[in-house]
Amino acid sequence: METIRVLSVFGTRPEAIKMCPLVQELAARPQIESLCCVTAQHRQMLDSVLDTFGVKPDWDLDIMTPRQTLSSITSKCLLGMDEAIDALKPDLILVHGDTSTTFAGALSAFYHQVSLGHVEAGLRTYDKYSPFPEEMNRVLVSGIAEMNFCPTFGNRENLVREGRDRNIFITGNTVIDALRTTVQENHHFAAELLNHLPYEEKKVLLVTCHRRENYGEPMRNIFQALRQIAEKRTDVELVYPVHLSPVVREAADQYLRGVPRVHLIDPLSAGDMHNLMARCYLVLTDSGGLQEEAPALGKPVLVLRRETERPEAVAAGTVKLAGVVQEDIVSLTEELLSKKSAYDKMARAVNPYGDGHACRRIADAIEWRYGLRPERPADYQA
Ligand code: UD1
Ligand code: UDP
Repeated sequence: METIRVLSVFGTRPEAIKMCPLVQELAARPQIESLCCVTAQHRQMLDSVLDTFGVKPDWDLDIMTPRQTLSSITSKCLLGMDEAIDALKPDLILVHGDTSTTFAGALSAFYHQVSLGHVEAGLRTYDKYSPFPEEMNRVLVSGIAEMNFCPTFGNRENLVREGRDRNIFITGNTVIDALRTTVQENHHFAAELLNHLPYEEKKVLLVTCHRRENYGEPMRNIFQALRQIAEKRTDVELVYPVHLSPVVREAADQYLRGVPRVHLIDPLSAGDMHNLMARCYLVLTDSGGLQEEAPALGKPVLVLRRETERPEAVAAGTVKLAGVVQEDIVSLTEELLSKKSAYDKMARAVNPYGDGHACRRIADAIEWRYGLRPERPADYQA
């Protein structure tokens, strides 16, 4: 084969942040035709990322509706992908991670008998309902993928344990590649508030929270904990770019709107977000991506979940599981605000998730698999 056509499929903000650098890397390879299909499971939050990276999709399914259900996302993606695959005729389809777009993209590749590569493969909690539906999405995608690009050695081990030991490449996470583009010392924030925060005089806490399994009581507990911290501690400023999900926005409004020292703001561009993370004191989050980014930037993370599929930074000591109980979140946060030794122990830059060259390794692996390169790329070693 002299050239191959690779179709990257993604639809949500985190997939876009982690796939745009790869789309660009593939486009720079003379023997690869890099195409991009977005489902737009997220509309505004996706477009913001496409803008940041200057990526123009070749196909846009435009499926998002307010309060969409898992079934509606999956079925619309499947129908839309039929047309996209028929028109674009890829040799290889790439999906990323564990969203509904990921699962539908993989299933669609299978229905069309097109090879599938899974970027960010092998993450597991082994709890079917947590995170929901992501854990089952990634297990199902692993059953279809012919090429698996694992960020870490541990992710590879998970796949091997499941009997999937072929065509696994350890690459690091492409999010670290993305950070190399977005983080800049003299970054000027588009969100004006962020240019004026007292980063030196006070402690800026960066918060995000959006996961479906946290809807309802866990989210209430989390928000009440944040409220308690902000009301008590005059030395903090809490910045929470609120996800556009109406479920999340209603809860955030109810528990946090108007609380002193709490800034509820709209979602940030990836550039603003990554640079805010680089300047903040501490991150509190239930996000997957933030657990990978913050350690690389030397920021401690308290994870607002019961489990994590990203144990590497926990082992390295920069990420702690805080859970979803109000008192636990408050006391762990208090400790990091008050005890310098506890803070310093966590605030170290560690890089278990990559060295910024994951996209190069993935593109090399694809070229090797299709006979366009003589040598298999070396695995990433943390
Ligand atoms: C999805 C993923 C989740 C990922 C998260 C990243 C699934 C099942 N979930 O969850 O794994 O962690 O994205 O953020 O795939 N909305 C907008 N504009 C946007 C984006 C969302 O208005 O740009 C609103 C819409 O009302 C939409 C709702 O948010 O219906 C929820 O979006 P959805 O993609 O269904 O779920 P997320 O919680 O974002
Ligand atoms: N992010 C962003 N703007 C925001 C919040 C998050 O650019 O206002 C970025 C964040 O830095 C990370 C990604 O979005 O790269 C994580 O997305 P999210 O938390 O929505 O999803 P998850 O990683 O949990 O699947």
